[in-house]
Amino acid sequence: MTCPSPLHIDKELILFGASGDLAKEKLYPALFDLFMRDEGVRVTGFGRTAFSHDDFRTLVREAVSAKRAQATPEDIETFSSCFRYYSGTYDRGGMKALSEALRGTPKKSLFFYLAIPSEYGLIEAIIDGLAGNDLLGKTTSLALEKPFGSDLASAKQLNALLARHLDESQIYRLDHYLAKDMVRDLFALRFANPIFDPVWNSRFIRDITIEIWEDEGIRKRAEYYERSGAIRDMLQNHALELLAFTTMDQPKSQDPEDIHHEKIRIFRKLRLFGNEKLENISIGQYDGYRKEPLVASDSLVETRASIRLEIDTPRWRGIPITIASGKKMPKKTTDITVTFRKPEHTLWEASGCALAENRIRINIQPENEIRLRLNSEFSTEKKCAYPADLRFAFADNAYSFKEPYDNALHDFFAKDQGTFLNAQEILLSWKFIDSVLAVIEPKRREILEKY
Ligand code: BG6
Repeated sequence: MTCPSPLHIDKELILFGASGDLAKEKLYPALFDLFMRDEGVRVTGFGRTAFSHDDFRTLVREAVSAKRAQATPEDIETFSSCFRYYSGTYDRGGMKALSEALRGTPKKSLFFYLAIPSEYGLIEAIIDGLAGNDLLGKTTSLALEKPFGSDLASAKQLNALLARHLDESQIYRLDHYLAKDMVRDLFALRFANPIFDPVWNSRFIRDITIEIWEDEGIRKRAEYYERSGAIRDMLQNHALELLAFTTMDQPKSQDPEDIHHEKIRIFRKLRLFGNEKLENISIGQYDGYRKEPLVASDSLVETRASIRLEIDTPRWRGIPITIASGKKMPKKTTDITVTFRKPEHTLWEASGCALAENRIRINIQPENEIRLRLNSEFSTEKKCAYPADLRFAFADNAYSFKEPYDNALHDFFAKDQGTFLNAQEILLSWKFIDSVLAVIEPKRREILEKY
């Protein structure tokens, strides 16, 4: 494995926030994985902190060693030689050195990645600095991370800023949940297996639940979290994206536009269940949250939230769909549960046999498995059937999972938009979330539960 020769660089990743947590914890280990699969790129770090090239390479080596225990020092050393670093302020003047370093690299080979706190002013300064130094061409790519705004108005403002300098096809908005292997497998489960489509509707399905639980608290992210809370941090993006993948119609093709089109049809039709208001929402705050450093002692920010909604389409109308997420829960787990209606049939009722509902549970993490509950054990004595789970665990089938950031970076370099979000779906998901927050705000103090 070697670095791409400076004379033949067809992909150059320019990373803003190169010494930040996201870069160290996720991006460098993932870039290392790609490098080991012969998908290496040259990386130019840029940040306000001053580092020499060597200091930066040391930081990269430490980050990879911490996350990839099996990697050899030689591989990590070679990998880190693909990195260089420039420091400066996030403005036109500050990015001069960067633009000089990138002179000669074709625009289509430039991949900018904003691994920085998602603050409008910061993003604006960077985009303006890049444009002012003639670094944004018609074929340059730019990736950025959620959150994309904090409500509909700010998401619109962010979209408008990006659209001033880049075409939609050049913007890669990452929600890392869509880069998880199991979420991609959900696409296969639904659309590569015709047995599911005929029953995937309100006639057969009773309800759907999407739960993203985490055992950790907010770690050191109080500043961000106090402005965000669980609804903005997890439900607006990760949970709604899982919902869209679970409920959307089959796209015409695997082209990103067709996938986006189907997701957008779902987002357009979201509403609180039965149009009821507060009954569909619950929010909570974990014990000890207010004692976390930098958290207000009277904070009303929710660290757990659940919303019962409905998709107002012929396929889904009337079916309650719950999306929920919380921190400091007993276990870290993400599940999509689709519960089917009970059969109405005297064959079982006559013997007093209460059948269980069929249920598919897709565990996105950590087990990476699909369970299908079937009434499969028949007792001739009781004239009843008892449920058992049919379990398919990807891990038992020599299926090798990739980290979400491996997938995301791979797709970014391949200029494949399928994993990324488009401008419109973000606006529509915020529109729904804004309407939910408008219901919560006047009652927040009363309804916030302790847990
Ligand atoms: C991030 C949220 O988007 O996702 C975090 O900001 C959360 O609060 C994280 O902890 C969860 O991601 P994962 O992949 O660990 O489930």
